[in-house]
Amino acid sequence: MNINWYPGHMKKTRNSIKKNLSLVDLVYEVIDARIPYSSQNPDINTIIGNKPRLIILNKSDLADKKANLLWEEYFKSKGIKAVSVDSLNKKGIDNIVKLSYKLTEDKRIALKKKGIKNKPIRVMILGIPNVGKSTLINSLSNRKGAKVGNKPGVTKANQWIKIKGGLELLDTPGILWPRFEDKHVGLNLAFTGAIKDELLDTITLSMELIERLNEISNSYIENRYNIITKDKTPYDIMMEIGKKRGCIIKGGKIDFEKVSHIIIDEFREGFIGRITLELPKNLR
Ligand code: G4P
Repeated sequence: MNINWYPGHMKKTRNSIKKNLSLVDLVYEVIDARIPYSSQNPDINTIIGNKPRLIILNKSDLADKKANLLWEEYFKSKGIKAVSVDSLNKKGIDNIVKLSYKLTEDKRIALKKKGIKNKPIRVMILGIPNVGKSTLINSLSNRKGAKVGNKPGVTKANQWIKIKGGLELLDTPGILWPRFEDKHVGLNLAFTGAIKDELLDTITLSMELIERLNEISNSYIENRYNIITKDKTPYDIMMEIGKKRGCIIKGGKIDFEKVSHIIIDEFREGFIGRITLELPKNLR
């Protein structure tokens, strides 16, 4: 579902999230491990304030293993704990619980001093659309809940789900707006499916994706489609993939629309490889 973010929506979202933040001890900020910078809400620091935060580099199964570590290190250098997770296959979930326990140690000690025992530590999830917030909630709680609608803000009455380690999770995530700053970020969001608005038509998007992948390494496209890409334009590459995959329309012409969908879908599903599109060292 697409959201068009207007200043009014953003204000409403900010306010409803602030309300929920006052109920929790810890925030899980979910971002996409393939595009950690582009999938981060630009105002996250001011929204969260000094609430303890754990960054969840979700979809780490689709991202480059070494890059996941680099991003964890990068956030650590900023004083924020980050953990790589694959919510879909429930990998890294135990680490979330462990780190949550650590991050709320002060709070638990303070409660104990006051003689308050067994007060659950409460957590809420924040992130832009499509980073895997609902999947994470389902994994943490072992439920197979329905996908949370991508409506701005938090819309229904709060319910707390008991998860491991004496934690309670707000069952509705806070849905934040993405960065809108430049074409590079916009493309990253479009490649990964975080924004489904037709920023670009599918054919142009897949040409941009081919260019980007080849900038990182020629081997991704070459190995997946068994072609040579050297000195070829994205157009030529698409022609070759189209021939190989039988994407032919009447008159023997290549069905570029079909080829585009193949490339974009296969990238999103990880069939072209575990690929991280941006690294901390490239942050401008
Ligand atoms: P959201 O609540 O933040 O909007 O995201 P949601 O959980 O709905 O997840 C968005 C898509 O990402 C889903 O794919 C979901 O299965 C996938 N996903 C979430 N976490 C992970 C992960 O750790 N690894 C992988 N590989 N995929 C993950 P979908 O159902 O195909 O939805 P869509 O892409 O068609 O919207």
